[in-house]
Order: sequence, then C-alpha cells, then structure tokens
Amino acid sequence: MIVAFAPLVALAQNEGNGSANLQMVVNADLGTATISRHIYGHFAEHLGRGIYDGFWTKAETGEWHFRDDLIEAMRKIQVPNVRWPGGCFADYYHWKDGIGQNRPTMINTLWGGVTEDNSFGTHEYMELMARLGAEPFVVGNVGSGSVREMSEWWEYFNFPGVSPMADMRRANGREEPWGVRFWGVGNESWGCGGAMAPEYYANEYKRYAEFLRPYGGTRPFRVATGAYGDNYEWTEVMMREAGSMIDGIDLHYYTLAGTWSDKGSATEFDEDRWFKLMKNQVALEEIIERQSTIMDRYDPDKRVALIVGEWGTWYNVEEGTNPGFLYQQNSLRDAVVAAAEIDLFNNHADRVRGANIAQTINVLQAMILTDGAKMLLTPTYHVFEFYTVHHDATLVPITLEKGTYEFEGDAVPAISASASRDSLGVVHITMTNRDPNKSRTIAAQVRGTKARKVSGRVLTASTMNAHNTFERPNVVQPAAFRGASFKDGTLTVEMPPKAVVVLTLE
Ligand code: AHR
Repeated sequence: MIVAFAPLVALAQNEGNGSANLQMVVNADLGTATISRHIYGHFAEHLGRGIYDGFWTKAETGEWHFRDDLIEAMRKIQVPNVRWPGGCFADYYHWKDGIGQNRPTMINTLWGGVTEDNSFGTHEYMELMARLGAEPFVVGNVGSGSVREMSEWWEYFNFPGVSPMADMRRANGREEPWGVRFWGVGNESWGCGGAMAPEYYANEYKRYAEFLRPYGGTRPFRVATGAYGDNYEWTEVMMREAGSMIDGIDLHYYTLAGTWSDKGSATEFDEDRWFKLMKNQVALEEIIERQSTIMDRYDPDKRVALIVGEWGTWYNVEEGTNPGFLYQQNSLRDAVVAAAEIDLFNNHADRVRGANIAQTINVLQAMILTDGAKMLLTPTYHVFEFYTVHHDATLVPITLEKGTYEFEGDAVPAISASASRDSLGVVHITMTNRDPNKSRTIAAQVRGTKARKVSGRVLTASTMNAHNTFERPNVVQPAAFRGASFKDGTLTVEMPPKAVVVLTLE
C-alpha cells in the first residue's frame, strides 16, 4: 500500500522550478502482497480491426491466419490473459456459431454494422492464447443467451470425459479439454449487457454461476459484472446478495480528456486536455479505494478480487475511420496515463488482482496499430514492456511525496510510483511525472537492500502529443536513463517532465 505525504512547506518549495527534493522511502525488504501478473491483462473484442485485420489477417488467397510479427511483439510484453469475445459483443455472441465447418454470419450491430462471419471462434481464440502463452478469460452471454448455452460452452472447453459438448469438441479437432478458468458471467449487465438493476442481475448471476461446474481439475474463477466507476450501489448489492459465489468483480473505468460527448482528439490537444486527462486518471484512485472499502465489509479476507476488466483512454475516432471501430492514435500522453494507472493497480495489489486494458490492437488504447502489412508499437506498448518487471513480484511498500502539477488554479499529484521485489530479490521502481513542463527531483531512502547500483530506462519525448506513425514508427522509443544515482542508501532521481521511468536496483 502506498502512503502519500505532502508537507505544505515541501509542496511550496516544489511549486517553482521543480528542483527541490520530493522525499520517498522504499522499504525494499518489506511487503507481502503479490502483484498479480493478471493486472497486465488485455482485452480483444469482436470490434473494428482488433481481431479481424488485427491479430487475424487475410492472405491474398482469402484465408485468415495469425499475424506472426504482431504475436512476436505481444509475447515480449508477456501477456498474461486476454478477455474475449467482449465487451458488449459478449452478450450478443452465440458460441456455437463460431465452431465447426459451417458458420453462420451475423451483423455486428454494436460495432460498425459490419458482417461478422464467425471465422474467429472458440478454437481460433484458444490457438491465439497458445501462441501468446496467455491464459484465456472468456465472457459468457447472459444478456441474450441462456444458462444452458453458457454451461454448454463451459463444458465444451473443460469436460475431459464423454459428454455431448466434449464429443463435439473432439469432432472439431480438439481431444483434450483446455482447462479455461477465468469466466465472466455477462458484461456490463447494467447497460449493454441487459440494462438490469443490480438486484435482478445478482439473482441472474447466481443462477448462471451455479451451472459452471468443476470439471476434471478445472474450477471456475467466476467473474461478476462490476460497477462502472463510482457506482457504489452496484458493488454493495452484488457483494451483499451474491458475494459468496463471486471470485472476481469486474469494475470498468475509461479515462477521458473531456466528457463522453466531447472526448477530444488522441493527438491534437493542448495542455487543457492533457490536464483533464490526468485529473480523470487520478480520480480512479478514490474509486478503487471506495469500491474496495465496500468489498472489505463483506469480504474482509479479500477473497474476492477486484478486476478492472476494462480500462484505458477513450478519444474521438480518427478522422475518416468507421465511428463504430473506435480506432484512435496513441501518444506519450497515453503512456503517462497507463503508467500511473498501473502504479495504482500495483499499489492496491491486495485487492486488485486483475485488469484488462482496452483493447490491444487497433481499438481504443492499443498496444499495436496496423495498416495492411505495416505495424507500429504505441507508447503504451513500451509502458507494458517496462512494467513486465512487476509481474508476480512482491509489492514493496513505499511512502512518496508526490508533489503537485498545477494548471489554471487546479492541481493533481505530479509523481506516481510503485515498487516491487522479484524472485531473485532485485528491486524495481517505476515512476511517472504527469507534469508536462517541469522536472522533479526525488530523493529516496532505500531501506533493507544490499543493492549498490541503479540502472534504468525512460520513455519521453519533446512534445506532449508525440506519437508513432507508420511513416515514423520510432518517434517515442525507450532510451537509457541517466537521471538516477544511488549512493549511501539514497537514490536520487531527476524525473523529466511527461516521462515514465523504470529503475533496477542491484
Ligand atoms: O471497449 C468498448 C466497450 O466499452 C465495451 O464493449 C463495453 O464493455 C464498454 O462499454
């Protein structure tokens, strides 16, 4: 757990040139919570060019196949799980349409009104998981499906013996059960997943969850639809009425640089929009803490995980693209938001044990953008690569004086950080400066380590909206970080403006 302290005197000193020290303490040998690698999960919906024309691409012969360059890049960020097939699409999806030889088409009325030919279905998804080395996280259809349909899908994935669904799986070429654990019971059931009241959904949830039986060695990890943002009533009712049958509750929160009707551009923005986005990101901290407090009342042992199953930035779509495809560029600003958001998840690792950024390829805050055979890594991708050091590491408690980034009479914390100790005892610290104008100096006392030296990498650029394009794919790139020194137990970090840093203490 992170503790913030901001003595007034120190704050005042930092308002000027940003050169005064912000104090930090890193207790390198303390901490018991594991930062679950599933905090670094992804999300791939049947939406726009995320799957079709993203992971899954058409050869000249018309055959679909996986894109090797893209899968290789995703393997480097050690994808732990991919949530699929939605999103809102999950409550429209009938899984039997996506298996076998003759697959019916449907209209994807939610996302762009395009024809979904169901060529990417259960077997293709599981093949993708195998190629990525990731665990599946399947979301079943509650909104327009039935208990039978969902329980049969579970049986198709997991039953080892002779049964109608296991036999169907074998007839489609897969002998062994896959052992799928993570299972969402509907998506956003308060909205696109059926517009249900929490009491009604709690009852539905229990009915659906009851029929996900343990098969072979596979027990379901049952994920209930959670609240959107600060809807505390939803969490209260779910925990009260169905808590004992829930393993994870799926909170959604998107970060906006304005309002839902005025989301702004991904790359053409001024400092006003930068600040608004940062403020909206910072707001998630209170939401996570208040949602966790409600959960603590019903589940003091923290058995139920808070899973932030959809998060990321959401802007207006890029001009000239299908508005239903949610295609947006990705700049240094997104990297700063991603890093601060993951620090937040890390620092609440005792309760936040999963998260899925929306949505991997070509949709919303993507890791990778494609244009035909071309592909680029976004600044957000590089943050995920930096943060692989925290996967399944032990959260190291820190206290941090965050400083303030002020803009037109308003303010947000300038610095975000989290720290962990890996299985070899190596300590890693990630740090972000939200201020696009001023650097900050952080003086950290590092206790409980024999480490003597520090090395690091930085992600930054000269402009707030710096981004990679197909013509110039390397504008925002990680570089060696020269701004950290470590002497007599004091780590000094010169954090540049609008930057993300990863440090290794050895
Ligand atoms: O990620 C896009 C959409 O946002 C998802 O389908 C839905 O769950 C959320 O409202």
